[in-house]
Amino acid sequence: MSEIPSTDEALANLSMPLLDAMMTQRAIRRVKPDPVDDAIVVKCIELALRAPTGSNGQNWEFIVVKDQRVKDQLGKRYRQPWSIYGALGRRQAANDESMLKILKAVEWQVEHFSEIPVLVVPCLRGGTRVPYVPTPFVGETSYFGSIYPSVQNLLLAARAMGLGASLITMPLWNVTSARRILGLPLSVTPICVVPLGWPRGRYGPTTRKPVEDVVHFDTYGNRGLTT
Ligand SMILES: Cc1cc2nc3c(=O)[nH]c(=O)nc-3n(C[C@H](O)[C@H](O)[C@H](O)COP(=O)(O)O)c2cc1C
Repeated sequence: MSEIPSTDEALANLSMPLLDAMMTQRAIRRVKPDPVDDAIVVKCIELALRAPTGSNGQNWEFIVVKDQRVKDQLGKRYRQPWSIYGALGRRQAANDESMLKILKAVEWQVEHFSEIPVLVVPCLRGGTRVPYVPTPFVGETSYFGSIYPSVQNLLLAARAMGLGASLITMPLWNVTSARRILGLPLSVTPICVVPLGWPRGRYGPTTRKPVEDVVHFDTYGNRGLTT
């Protein structure tokens, strides 16, 4: 089991090579209940804010949840869809070892949600369309797309500091309830949740599709790799 670094050590680890951080950033769902220093969480958010947003709106808000009652309520919301999705997933993935492994980790997270030391809830202000864009479609993709670059920055910062993190959306399935739990006005929409804590396991390389399977040159279907 990995050691918990001091705040100074964790912050110093931000100098980790970008390539190493990107190649080993993955969902760490099993975390220890030990507290995470606010300075570390705030640093993750400060680095998240270097990301782009549609029309440079910077219309983001980050709720840092440590209060037990708020965590319990969000945990209860997570358990509701999981009781259906988890059972369905296990049935569908009966012969898929790697998917079963993920589902076990998700189950751990759902069951221990209240013990996770910090939940960051990235939110967006305004209606679900970015202004000054030509069509509703571009407005909507730009709106929701305005949070995820910042979330990826946050995940990479957490990874560099050795802090376990994952990106989840299921606890927010009932947005009205999520707003009430978090005290959000109607003008602020919670988009996802990033649970943070010191890992019980360790970071390691991720398994992803090979690049040749997803890249197309000029038009869809043109797989020829040019050199
Ligand atoms: C938009 C989005 C929503 C997600 N929602 C959840 C979620 O609700 N619960 C969960 O356990 N993981 C969620 N994930 C994480 C994926 O399941 C995870 O990236 C995938 O299992 C790959 O894991 P790895 O990075 O450890 O390889 C979400 C990821 C994205 C991008």
